[in-house]
Amino acid sequence: MHLARFPRICLAHLPTPLEPMDRLSKALGGPRLWIKRDDCTGLATGGNKTRKLEFLVAAALEEGADTLVTVGAVQSNHCRQTAAAAAKTGLHCELLLERRVADDSAGYESGANVFLDRLFGASLSCFDAGHDMTAELFAHGERLKAQGRRPYLIPGGGSNPVGALGYVNCALETVRQADALDLTIDEVVVATCSSGTQAGLVVGFIGSGSQIPTLGISAGDPQAEQEAIVQRLVDATADFMGLPAIGSEHVVADDGYVGGGYGVPTEGMVAAVRMLAEHEAVLLDPVYSGKAFAGLIALVKAGRWTADQNVVFVHTGGSVGLFAQESLFS
Ligand SMILES: Cc1ncc(COP(=O)(O)O)c(C=O)c1O
Repeated sequence: MHLARFPRICLAHLPTPLEPMDRLSKALGGPRLWIKRDDCTGLATGGNKTRKLEFLVAAALEEGADTLVTVGAVQSNHCRQTAAAAAKTGLHCELLLERRVADDSAGYESGANVFLDRLFGASLSCFDAGHDMTAELFAHGERLKAQGRRPYLIPGGGSNPVGALGYVNCALETVRQADALDLTIDEVVVATCSSGTQAGLVVGFIGSGSQIPTLGISAGDPQAEQEAIVQRLVDATADFMGLPAIGSEHVVADDGYVGGGYGVPTEGMVAAVRMLAEHEAVLLDPVYSGKAFAGLIALVKAGRWTADQNVVFVHTGGSVGLFAQESLFS
């Protein structure tokens, strides 16, 4: 796989560390657990979107765009990283935020990620839950064009074939690190939602022949829907890269840890955030990585892996979101 043929700018601190979690592995008594620290990608407190934005912003600059426009939930980590990428590259940024989570506290509405969006100079517009955000994205692009601006539209989560290249890159980087450590990875576990992260990992691991399986843990959608979203992007990304098609047996999304829905806190998430903080001093987020880690802990306890296996959790970041919902942990 030759990613250098795709336009890319440098936004992330790479490679992110691949580290053992020995205290946690001992406490849980299952396989050896590892963590791929994509919470440490560096841009604006890090997270998974930075890898996607390396390719998306490069494409925007190649097109001569002057404004990045994207959509997300109010406390979107993707929007925060997009605002930061725009600031770093001298582009304007317009964020269209959906009140997808029923939380109107000041901390949620204007703290944490929203505070940082504004600090990076982005313009924010808010919409009610259920608003058609994709239609709004296109309509906003047309409005900006009518004003003589040159917008570059980034879909929710940066999840299209260009953005997914960032996670193809992460898969290749992880394999290189594992080889250097003489480590056989038995499975990778990651939070999944708009799907660019999981789809990129699957294309990277399977398309490169490493055969490492990826288990997505859904942050919102039921299994069948989530797997369909991931498969569509796997197909589109493999096609974009000129790779053979990748079968549906490689696309698995577990919806067992969503609880009441997207962004609705669960006891398992709160316990997982606490456990990782107390054993490894690593911070998760309440919406994605916290629920994914709750899934990882439950699957270890259920005996999914043997003691001699190695499981890697790809930490997608988002800990800024903890500060929007501190009361959950007090
Ligand atoms: C912290 C975090 N983890 C995981 C995800 C899910 O990644 P994806 O949207 O690529 O499926 C997101 C998406 O916004 C996120 O912010």
